[in-house]
Amino acid sequence: MAGRFPASWVDELYARADIVQLVSTYLPLKKKGHNYWGLCPFHNEKTPSFSVNPDLNVFYCFGCQAGGNIAQFVMDMERLNYPEALAFLAKQTNLPIPASLETPEDPAVQSQKERLYQANEAAARYYHDILWKPQGAKILSYLRSRDLDDAAIRKFGLGAGSQEWEGLSTHLESLGFSREEMRLAGLIAVKDNHHYDMFRDRVMFPILNVYGKVLGFGGRAMGDAQPKYLNTADTPIFNKRYGVYAANLLRNQRNLQRIILVEGYMDVISLMARGVQGVVATLGTALTQEQARFLKRFAPEIWLAYDGDDAGQLAIERAIDVFNQEMIPVKVLQFPEGMDPDDMIRKQGIDAFTKLKPISPYLFGMRRVEKRLDLSEQEGRTEYAKTCSALLSSVGDPVELDLFLKELAVKSGFDKDVLLAQMNVAGSRVQKVRRQQDEKMSKRKPAHVSQAEGTAAEQALISLLASGYLPENFLKADDFLSPAFCDIAQKMLEGQSPSAIMANLENDSLRSLAGKLFIRENSDDRETALAAAEECLSTLRQQRIGRELDLLRKSMEKQDAEEKQESLREYMRLSSQLSKMSRSSADRKEV
Ligand code: UTP
Ligand code: MN
Repeated sequence: MAGRFPASWVDELYARADIVQLVSTYLPLKKKGHNYWGLCPFHNEKTPSFSVNPDLNVFYCFGCQAGGNIAQFVMDMERLNYPEALAFLAKQTNLPIPASLETPEDPAVQSQKERLYQANEAAARYYHDILWKPQGAKILSYLRSRDLDDAAIRKFGLGAGSQEWEGLSTHLESLGFSREEMRLAGLIAVKDNHHYDMFRDRVMFPILNVYGKVLGFGGRAMGDAQPKYLNTADTPIFNKRYGVYAANLLRNQRNLQRIILVEGYMDVISLMARGVQGVVATLGTALTQEQARFLKRFAPEIWLAYDGDDAGQLAIERAIDVFNQEMIPVKVLQFPEGMDPDDMIRKQGIDAFTKLKPISPYLFGMRRVEKRLDLSEQEGRTEYAKTCSALLSSVGDPVELDLFLKELAVKSGFDKDVLLAQMNVAGSRVQKVRRQQDEKMSKRKPAHVSQAEGTAAEQALISLLASGYLPENFLKADDFLSPAFCDIAQKMLEGQSPSAIMANLENDSLRSLAGKLFIRENSDDRETALAAAEECLSTLRQQRIGRELDLLRKSMEKQDAEEKQESLREYMRLSSQLSKMSRSSADRKEV
């Protein structure tokens, strides 16, 4: 992960950066014991469970289990990726970025991309300026007719595509951009030596990434011109699979409890202009896995607020699947037939909008089924009961399930018990498929994921190792049982700091666990720490022998007499070793 930065530079950076100082610029911290405590910036809480260990430069929240080193904190707080977070810290600590990193890509490619960003930026300004000129009057009045005020127009940088064929290209030429650059950015089209502006006589919506760079544009036609929305095709700096409209505004909206995902650019603007927070849209395509993963960074849950027409409802079904695959909690906001979020908020106001209760995807699914059946006929009710039972067989929460079953019972006329029985029939089929999927998944997973938690002794020992009280050669990485712990211990024994180790743990739950262990308060007294560590080590050795005994017992089942003899001897040896060890640790406890 840290590949691009020289390790010595990263070490220097970590040595300079002070986590307490940095965190204090975001929230007040109070010292208690070894650590500093404050209200967690990553979830809402009233009593502090967010702690910072100044010696190890790591943080951990006992409330939401967020944890990591100083770079992780910057990543989470500033929504940056790892290299960006390092660059951020470098700036804060006045550490110059190594010269070799200024041009990570091929310099030609890099500067070409940079040029395209600049061309887009200049184009966005050009479109925006036209809006306030006589040339843009028609488009400005169109925006006004859609109830957008100047503040909203400025916030989203809306603009007007000129009516001329070469308005933008002439302007960009005067700024020194070449035809080729304009073509690559998708701003002009070139045909047999001719060229013309791609967006003319359209409302222009610049599409910005999280860092505020203009990636491309959406342009809405005036009147009935087709297509209604013309979007920048994929370019070296724009890929619709990854982009999200209004991503640039997400960074400044902290502590969002949910993101509202809508279909249209106008929905985003209309809702946000009226004070709804955290609204984004995809870019004229169905939701992709990449976009779902991106959104996950900003809120714990997504609400789908697509149009109340058939296309919108179908798109919701697809989007639910995408979020489910990424294990991202999702809910659905529903609008009256034929209305989109923009229509609804304009007609009924922000209060009515914020009062809308999102429904669970299960309920949404049931309503979809209900729509296509005739529940006034027995046949329709039976199919309704069967289809919905299958749907509900994957509900995990019993209380929720009870609620859905009640609704299903009322509408289908079947008894709840009958529905439950039907659910189990359908469920066992669903579960069988799911089990098969799980099996496939678990085969793919590296073994350490399931053992990531380690044993209590392993956890305590890692924490003691981090405290720096254990003498050299006190333990070996192999003393740990779980591969993940062996790995962490190995790195610590090689002299890597807890902070550097955490920076390289890409598994979220493992990093969270490491954070918890590194932040643990150990005794200040070296003797006590040492005794505790010895106890852990002995427990671990006993556990290891216990495991070997288990394995021996299993393998003996399949062995012939001679092999069994051999195994039995080994078995005896190990068990006597084990009982000796447990006796001596009992003695230690009595002392
Ligand atoms: P809609 O037609 O529902 O958009 O398409 P809207 O925002 O409600 O349009 P108006 O301005 O209020 O009438 C939803 C989204 O689908 C994409 C655009 O991203 C649009 O915002 N789209 C739609 C296209 O990319 N091309 C099209 O021709 C139509
Ligand atoms: Mn609309």
